[in-house]
Amino acid sequence: MSAEPLLSVESVDAGYGETQVLHDLSLSVGEGEIVSLVGRNGAGKTTTLRTIMGIIQPRSGRVTYRGEDVGGLDATKTAQRGIALVPEERRIFPELTVTENLEIAAHGGAPEADSLSVGEALAMFENLQDRAGNAGSSLSGGEQQMLAIARALVGGADLVLLDEPTEGLAPYIVQDVMEIVAELNEQGITVLLVEQNVHVCLELADRNYVINQGEIVYEGTSAELEADEEILDEYLGVTA
Ligand SMILES: Nc1ncnc2c1ncn2[C@@H]1O[C@H](COP(=O)(O)OP(=O)(O)OP(=O)(O)O)[C@@H](O)[C@H]1O
Ligand SMILES: [Mg+2]
Repeated sequence: MSAEPLLSVESVDAGYGETQVLHDLSLSVGEGEIVSLVGRNGAGKTTTLRTIMGIIQPRSGRVTYRGEDVGGLDATKTAQRGIALVPEERRIFPELTVTENLEIAAHGGAPEADSLSVGEALAMFENLQDRAGNAGSSLSGGEQQMLAIARALVGGADLVLLDEPTEGLAPYIVQDVMEIVAELNEQGITVLLVEQNVHVCLELADRNYVINQGEIVYEGTSAELEADEEILDEYLGVTA
């Protein structure tokens, strides 16, 4: 018998107003895994993360975390349970320093969780430590991404939802961000990684879900997905 997943999305329909975006979408993430949700522009990746977070409510189906329904919770309550969303836009506070950005995050997350202190988070991210007193607005794209991830850790998240963490970053910074994702996973954080870049997923993820037009069209390990030229070509624009 396999253990109950940490996060389970079960047959979810969700969308905006009249528009249904997610169709009967199911996925699960086990404790300690890195699982990717990969798909093209507009496939429904961010909508899936918003539904998990409680920013939008599923029309049908359910979302459970540690076996408990979180589908009816708002985003603040979901964060208090230990799920953190690092959004595409990163949303750091530009006028606050790196340290202040982290101090604020310590108040929003899971109250009695095993969170990193601000000092521990800074120690984990060398670039941030060097810029602890600098304004958020002075950070590069890669540093902003690192700060957004560090905030999730200071907030005590056990499950981090990363929305396209490598988008718009130079290749060598992509490598840095990937190392950070691997390192936080080694420290026991479970990761649901949303990407358009399948190469990042294949390198980092234990398992991958491919999403197309709001539906999961494939699930497999990175070795399986890497070998599946048809799926890579049809849904991810990768030609062998
Ligand atoms: N607030 C909104 N209101 C109405 N439709 C929306 C809204 N946000 C997204 N959509 C639509 O939902 C669909 C899925 O969008 P979503 O942002 O989830 O895709 P995505 O996979 O995250 O894409 P990207 O890779 O570009 O970030 C798209 O057709 C989009 O136009
Ligand atoms: Mg998106």
